[in-house]
Amino acid sequence: MQPGSGTARRLPPLSSHIEVESCARCHARRVQLWEDYAYGRPLVQTHLPRLLDEGLYHADGQIQAEVYVYGSFLQSKMYHAGVTCSDCHEPHSLHLRIPGDGVCGQCHQAEKYSSTSHHFHPPGSPGASCIACHMPATTYMEVDPRHDHSFRIPRPDLSVKMDTPNACNMCHTDRAAEWAAEQVRAWYGAAGNGYQGFAEILYAARNGTPVAERLLVQLAQDESAPAIARATALSQLQRYVSPVSFNVVRSSLKNADPLIRAAAVGVFEGVAPEERLSHGTGQSPREIRTRNDSTTARIASKETK
Ligand code: HEC
Ligand code: HEC
Ligand code: HEC
Ligand code: HEC
Ligand code: HEC
Repeated sequence: MQPGSGTARRLPPLSSHIEVESCARCHARRVQLWEDYAYGRPLVQTHLPRLLDEGLYHADGQIQAEVYVYGSFLQSKMYHAGVTCSDCHEPHSLHLRIPGDGVCGQCHQAEKYSSTSHHFHPPGSPGASCIACHMPATTYMEVDPRHDHSFRIPRPDLSVKMDTPNACNMCHTDRAAEWAAEQVRAWYGAAGNGYQGFAEILYAARNGTPVAERLLVQLAQDESAPAIARATALSQLQRYVSPVSFNVVRSSLKNADPLIRAAAVGVFEGVAPEERLSHGTGQSPREIRTRNDSTTARIASKETK
C-alpha cells in the first residue's frame, strides 16, 4: 500500500502479460489466426483481438456490442499498473477473491474511496458501489450482463458531446447527461478525467472531420495512451494516408507492441506486394524484385532441365 495515495502498487512490477493473455484467448472479441495455440507464447501469434471499432465499442472505448473483457481491460490504468485477472477472480472457482466492492478494497483503501467524500451517495446504497460507477454493466439478449473492464471515471461531459453512455445516467435514467455532468463538476471540481484521453480523437475519425488525420497521427504516437487505442488510430489512418501519416505508420511497424505492429501492417493492404514487403523487411523494392527474378529464373531453369 502506498502511504498517502490510498492505492496499492505492485512490487516487484509485473514482468509479463502471459497470465492475462491466457485468459484473453477466450475472453476477447477476436479472430483466430492459427490453430496451434501454446500457453506462454504471445497471444497475437495465434489470436488477433478486435480494435476499438465502430459498432463494437463506443467512441470513448466503452463496450457497445458484446466484446467480452480483454479489449476493455487493455484500456485500463490498472492493466498498465500491472493488475491481472487473477488479482480479482480466483481463476479456478471463478469467484471474486472478495465478493462485491470488497474486491476493490484489496488495493484501494476503504477510508478514502468508500466514503461519501468520494462517491457522494448514502453509504451502502446502490450509487455508492465502486463496481456500479467504475465498471457499469450492459445486459445483452436480456439475460447476459457484462461489466465494462476499462475501470473508467464516469464522464457524463463526454455523453453531452458525443452521446456515449455514462455510469451516472445508466442509473439516473430520468435525468439528462447535462445534469450528471453538472453534478460531477460540482462534486469533483477539476479532478482527473481518467486514463483514457482518446475519445474526442476517435469520435473525430468516426465523423470524418477534416482534422482527423492530424489527431490520429498524434494518438498513434502517444506513448501515454493505451496500445489498443494507438492501434485503432493506425487502423483508422488507412482512410487518410498522406506523406505525414505514412511515415508514422511505417515507423509503427517496429513498435514493441504487437497490436500496434499488426495494425500498421493492415494499413499497407492497398499497397503493391513488393513495396509492402519492402516496408516490412527494410529491403528496397528493387532488391526484392531482383531476388524474385532470380528465384523465378532458378525455378524456370529447373523446369527446363
Ligand atoms: C478455453 C477458454 C477459456 C479460458 C482460457 C478462460 N475462460 Fe473464463 N470462461 C470461459 C467461458 C466459455 C465462460 C462462460 C461464458 C462467459 O461468461 O463468457 C467463462 C466464464 C468466466 C467467468 C465468469 C463466471 C461467472 O460466474 O459468470 C470468469 C470470471 C472467468 N471466466 C475468468 C477467467 C479467467 C480469469 C481466465 C484466465 C485465468 C479465464 N477465465 C480463462 C472460457 C475460458
Ligand atoms: C490488485 C490491485 C487492485 C485492485 C484489486 C483494484 N485496483 Fe484499481 N487501481 C490499482 C492500481 C495500481 C491503479 C493505478 C494507480 C495509479 O497508477 O495511479 C488503479 C487505478 C484505478 C482507477 C483509476 C482509473 C483512472 O483512469 O484514473 C479506478 C477508477 C480504479 N482503479 C477502480 C477500481 C475498482 C472499481 C476496483 C474493484 C472492482 C479496483 N480498482 C480494484 C490497483 C487495483
Ligand atoms: C458515484 C460514482 C462513484 C463511486 C460509487 C465510486 N467512484 Fe471512484 N471515482 C468517481 C469519479 C467521478 C472519479 C473522478 C474524480 C476523482 O478523481 O475524484 C473517481 C475516481 C476514482 C479513482 C481514481 C482517482 C484516484 O484517487 O486515484 C479511484 C482509484 C477510484 N475512483 C476508486 C473507487 C473505489 C475503490 C470505489 C468504491 C469504494 C469508488 N471509486 C466508488 C466516481 C465514483
Ligand atoms: C479489479 C478487479 C477485476 C479485474 C482485474 C478483472 N475483473 Fe472480471 N469482473 C470483476 C467484477 C467485479 C465483475 C462483476 C462480477 C460480479 O459481480 O460477480 C467481473 C466480471 C467478469 C466476468 C463475467 C461477465 C461480466 O463481464 O460481468 C468475466 C467473464 C470476467 N470478469 C473476466 C475477467 C478477465 C478475463 C479478466 C482479465 C482480462 C478480468 N475479468 C479482470 C472484477 C475484475
Ligand atoms: C448504481 C446506480 C447509481 C449510480 C451509478 C449513480 N447513482 Fe446517483 N443515486 C442513485 C440512487 C439510488 C440515489 C438515491 C439515494 C438515496 O437517497 O437513497 C442517488 C442519488 C443521487 C443524487 C441525489 C439525489 C438526486 O437525484 O438529486 C445525485 C445528485 C446523484 N445521485 C448523482 C449521481 C452522479 C453524478 C453519478 C455519477 C458520478 C451517480 N449519481 C451515479 C443511484 C446511482
